[in-house]
Amino acid sequence: MSKAPRPPRTRRPQRAPQARRAGGARLPGIRPAALPARGQSEWYRRAVFYEVLTRGFFDANDDGIGDLTGLRMKLDYLQWLGVDCLWLLPYYPSPMRDGGYDISDFFTVHPDVGTLDDLVAFLDDAHRRDIRVIADLVMNHTSDQHPWFVESSSSRVNPKADFYVWNDDDQRWPEARVVFVDVETSNWTFAPDRQQYYWHRFYSHQPDLNYDNPEVVDAMLRVMRFWLDLGLDGFRLDAVPYLYQRDGTTGENLAETHQLVKQLRKEIDADYPNRVLLAEANQWPADLVDYFGDGDECHMCFHFPLMPRLFMAVRREQRFPVTEILAQTPEIPQGCQWAIFLRNHDELTLEKVTEEERDYMVAEYVKDPRMRRHMGIGRRLAPLLDGDRRLAELLHALLFSLPGSPVIYYGDELLMGDNVYLGDRDSVRTPMQWSPDRNAGFSRADFARLYLPPLMDPVYGFGAVNVEAQQRNPSSFLHWTRSMIQTRKQFPVLGTGDFTVVPCANPSVLAYVRSPAAHVENEHRLGRIRHRRAAADADDEGNPVLCVHNLSRFAQPAELQLGRWAGCTPVEVLGRVPFPNVGNESYTVTLGPYGYLWFDLHEAQAPTPAFHHQGSP
Ligand code: NOJ
Repeated sequence: MSKAPRPPRTRRPQRAPQARRAGGARLPGIRPAALPARGQSEWYRRAVFYEVLTRGFFDANDDGIGDLTGLRMKLDYLQWLGVDCLWLLPYYPSPMRDGGYDISDFFTVHPDVGTLDDLVAFLDDAHRRDIRVIADLVMNHTSDQHPWFVESSSSRVNPKADFYVWNDDDQRWPEARVVFVDVETSNWTFAPDRQQYYWHRFYSHQPDLNYDNPEVVDAMLRVMRFWLDLGLDGFRLDAVPYLYQRDGTTGENLAETHQLVKQLRKEIDADYPNRVLLAEANQWPADLVDYFGDGDECHMCFHFPLMPRLFMAVRREQRFPVTEILAQTPEIPQGCQWAIFLRNHDELTLEKVTEEERDYMVAEYVKDPRMRRHMGIGRRLAPLLDGDRRLAELLHALLFSLPGSPVIYYGDELLMGDNVYLGDRDSVRTPMQWSPDRNAGFSRADFARLYLPPLMDPVYGFGAVNVEAQQRNPSSFLHWTRSMIQTRKQFPVLGTGDFTVVPCANPSVLAYVRSPAAHVENEHRLGRIRHRRAAADADDEGNPVLCVHNLSRFAQPAELQLGRWAGCTPVEVLGRVPFPNVGNESYTVTLGPYGYLWFDLHEAQAPTPAFHHQGSP
């Protein structure tokens, strides 16, 4: 049986007006969080996301495990950094055999990280700062220790008998691939008490729920409403392609799955304005866009195929891997948005590349077989780049300007390292490095008690890489990231604008223009380019922004075909330096190794400034 929501330990006066949340009555005794100060629609299209592992962020009660109160205490830092939305990895009760994606109770918080009350207090504080919070909604499976599965597997006749997917043999659905190929040999595991096999797309301790059973659908809708009522701003829909199984199919992206996602979206649209659904669907672009539906499924989807191609492009020093996958990516419905990322809490997945590309990525980025995880590479961003700051900046410049909302993985703003000697994906889940103090300033517990050891090596260890030191140093990567986030906010068109690749004969150069979406562009053509307004909620997308990137480790010339923007003055966005006006000829810029330049394309007010024509005396 599912447990009834437990009341939190303490109460505080209700601050959020009940009328604002349709489902408030479903939370007897639990005070929901106040909603974000500004109820902006489509906020996610301009937002910078930050993925955070609660147990790895900050330990407020000195037990060696990060917690929700610790996360709340670090909101000052996150606000200073400038992120708009936090994505919390699973914080639910769990035996923790898959980083918490093995949930044993959907309706509360793991005691290691706090209480529901702590979550509400954290949401209140985040919302007060206009920081939104989404969390994982793991619909596909539960832990084998979830009471539903304990009951379901105990016999063939019990109230939860059909909550999971059972079969007499392990031969059904041979077309469905095994996702964790290095660990599991089959998607079926035998349950001795029931004398049947259960279906699981991931670890054998994670049985898949049976969505052909309407009771399961109802139960999961209740879960979704529970957290939305509490004040979450949405969900990352974990492993969403696998919800149904059908004979003769791979069991991925089935029509039934899309119907179910539409149903979730309908509930959200009816009762929870301004919340977001973000799909984790590791699929090729053509299948991926189906998770947007006709604008009636997810608001956002991770662009999985783009990610490894960014790493390929910089190693090959060629734009082709990126431009090819973007060319294969269909348009998305209005109001939808890609989520783009460099690294996350999982392995750098190599599922959506060709075999040849996979071999290339492994040859280039895996120096030791221990770095392989599942179908990918268990490393963090900085070590993947051999600690090259210029390359890290280039990849972030792409992350902040390609179509989509950027998702930063905690610690990558410091260029934190990894520990490939830890099991599974713990290699990239070590404690956040706050200071050079004991345990990286993450916890005051005894070292031996920490959930994972912090990094201590001379290059990436907390003595060398930490928030305190980088906050003091204006040239640190942390300050650089912060200023890029600010820049992105000044140019909302980078989030919402159309994307046009600019032709350039040099294959190492990736240049594109992000321009106001078609309806605004018409105004541009009519000669009414509007100027940026400071307010983030302004409708105005501003001018087009030209982004030019050198993917090579050597300086490169770029002759850009900018005919469509002839007559504009490109103003470099960081220094506000006007460059020569765009004419009818190709437009030349020179980029240093891994260099990038972003230009605000102003309507030319004057001829090219004189210093562009005259030499110095
Ligand atoms: C996707 C999550 O990102 C990953 O960490 C997890 O192992 C799988 N879902 C299975 O739960």
